[in-house]
Amino acid sequence: MDSRPVGVFDSGVGGLSVLRHFQRLAPNERVIYFADTAYFPYGPRPPAEVRKRAFAIVDRLIRSDVKMVIVACNTASASAIADLRQVFPVPFVGMVPGVKPAVQSSASGCVAILATSGTLDGDLYQRVVDEFGRSTRVISCHGDGLADLVEHGKAGTPEARAAVRASLTSAIEAGADTVVLGCTHYPFLEADILGEFPGVRLVDTSEAVARRAVQVLAESDLAAPPDQAGQLGLIVSGDREQFRAAMAALGFEPRSEEVPA
Ligand code: DGL
Repeated sequence: MDSRPVGVFDSGVGGLSVLRHFQRLAPNERVIYFADTAYFPYGPRPPAEVRKRAFAIVDRLIRSDVKMVIVACNTASASAIADLRQVFPVPFVGMVPGVKPAVQSSASGCVAILATSGTLDGDLYQRVVDEFGRSTRVISCHGDGLADLVEHGKAGTPEARAAVRASLTSAIEAGADTVVLGCTHYPFLEADILGEFPGVRLVDTSEAVARRAVQVLAESDLAAPPDQAGQLGLIVSGDREQFRAAMAALGFEPRSEEVPA
C-alpha cells in the first residue's frame, strides 16, 4: 500500500471527465490535478510543443511525489506517453481513441472519431485505426474549437450545438451511427451531441481509463490504505480563479486545496 498521491493532468477541465470516475472508484486516493490552462488548447499545437509541456508537468508532479500519472488528455497521450514511460520511474495510464469499442458497437459499419488535430494526426490514432478499424469505415472528425467551448463554460449552449453540428454532420450523413469522444473535454458535450443527433451511440472511454488506473495501482501494490481520506490538490498554470469557476460550472466542488506551482 502507498499513501502518496496520484497525478492527473490535462490542458484544462477535460481531464475532470476521467477524474470523476477515478474518484468514485478509488475514493480514498489523494490526487493532484494539474490543469495546464496557460497552454490551453493543446489540440492545434505541434506535437513537440505538447510533449515539452507533458514533460514539464510530469516533472512537477514527480516533485510532489506522485506514485502514478494519469495522462487524462488524448492529445498529450498521442504525443508524449511513450516517451514519458521511458524517462520517469512511475506507471502511466493514458487515453487511446476508442476505435475498438466503436467498431464493436456499430451496426451501420461506419463510425466517427471526434478528436483534436493533435490526436488525429498522431501515430497512436493511426495504429488503432489500422489495428481495429479494418472491417469498418472510420471517419475522422476534427473537433478543434469544441474543447474551447467546454473550457469556457459553454457546454449546453446554442453555440455548442452549432459547433457539434459543424463537426459531425458530414460523418452522420455518411452513415456513422457511433461517435467516439476522442478528447477528454467532449464527454461534457454529450447532451449537445445527443440533442443534435438523437439515437447516435457515443463511445466515452473515460470510465475504462479510470478503471485501468485503479487496476494498475492494485497490481503494482500502490493502492492507498483503505482508511485514508481522499483529497484533491490543484495545480493550475494559468488563472486559478478562472479554473475553479470552470470546475464549478461542470459540477465539481471547488473545495480542493491549492498546491503551489
Ligand atoms: N482534453 C484534451 C484531449 O483530450 C485536449 C483539449 C485541448 O487542449 O485541445 O485531447
